Amino acid sequence: MNRRFEGKIAIVTGAGAGIGRACMARLASEGAVVVGTDVKADKLDAAVAAAGTDAHGLICDVADPAAIDAMVAEVVARFGGVHVLVNNAGIGNPRRLRLHEQPLEDWDKVMGVNVRGVYLMQRAVIPHMLRQGGGSIVNMASTGSFRATALSSPYITSKGAVLMMTRAAAAEYARDNIRINAVCPGTTNTDILANSSAEMIEMLVARSPQGRLCEPEEVAALVAFLASDEAPHIHGGAYLIDGGRSAI
Ligand SMILES: NC(=O)c1ccc[n+]([C@@H]2O[C@H](COP(=O)([O-])OP(=O)(O)OC[C@H]3O[C@@H](n4cnc5c(N)ncnc54)[C@H](O)[C@@H]3O)[C@@H](O)[C@H]2O)c1
Repeated sequence: MNRRFEGKIAIVTGAGAGIGRACMARLASEGAVVVGTDVKADKLDAAVAAAGTDAHGLICDVADPAAIDAMVAEVVARFGGVHVLVNNAGIGNPRRLRLHEQPLEDWDKVMGVNVRGVYLMQRAVIPHMLRQGGGSIVNMASTGSFRATALSSPYITSKGAVLMMTRAAAAEYARDNIRINAVCPGTTNTDILANSSAEMIEMLVARSPQGRLCEPEEVAALVAFLASDEAPHIHGGAYLIDGGRSAI
């Protein structure tokens, strides 16, 4: 395994499960000191223990600006900076409904975590990256940033917004040595699928040219590459990882 993150401090949001858990494990295995954050303490503790001695857990809700500011301040005070930020925390659509039937509270909840959370995390971390002379940010978007599916307008809208926030921020920080990219997974084998029926998952697998779902570790490998010094000219991009689904 490469040691591309030796001496680097990374924050991964939503690190208690799925893609975030895999990102925390990958970055720690490559030498980073990783702070994983989540709202679920039991899941986060287990993920941190599995990731090894250079992983640490802090409870933090990405929808809560005060909690974010306190968490980032604690990371900087304890470890000395933030070189890598993986904005992974996100929630699925609470209900499968048409747009005019979506309850306002569901809409606000999805936007609050998936869009506002990504903004708030960058707002808190970028000043430290500017002070230390650079950094790398990976925002978790989705194939849903490019193509819609019916009955999930809050989620699809939120992932379109994450893509454009990534591009807008990339335009602003290119000369500050802060690289910002989006990763766009297709359907990935995580708890976010817990509300999906067996028939729905079967249908998703059948639609995949490779005939399978993406695994969280595969997304983590792409995130690690983009966040590493092996990708110095990769900035403002959106990287699909969907087994060919978007190609056909
Ligand atoms: N699984 C997929 O098919 C898929 C596809 C494309 C994009 N994504 C995106 O990848 C990211 C991770 O998804 P996943 O499938 O690993 O989900 P998951 O549900 O398995 O894990 C998400 C983690 O985020 C945490 N979380 C939820 N709300 C939070 C909050 N407010 N603050 C902090 N942490 C919070 C959860 O507790 C959980 O541990 C999300 O942004 C999701 O939209 C997932």
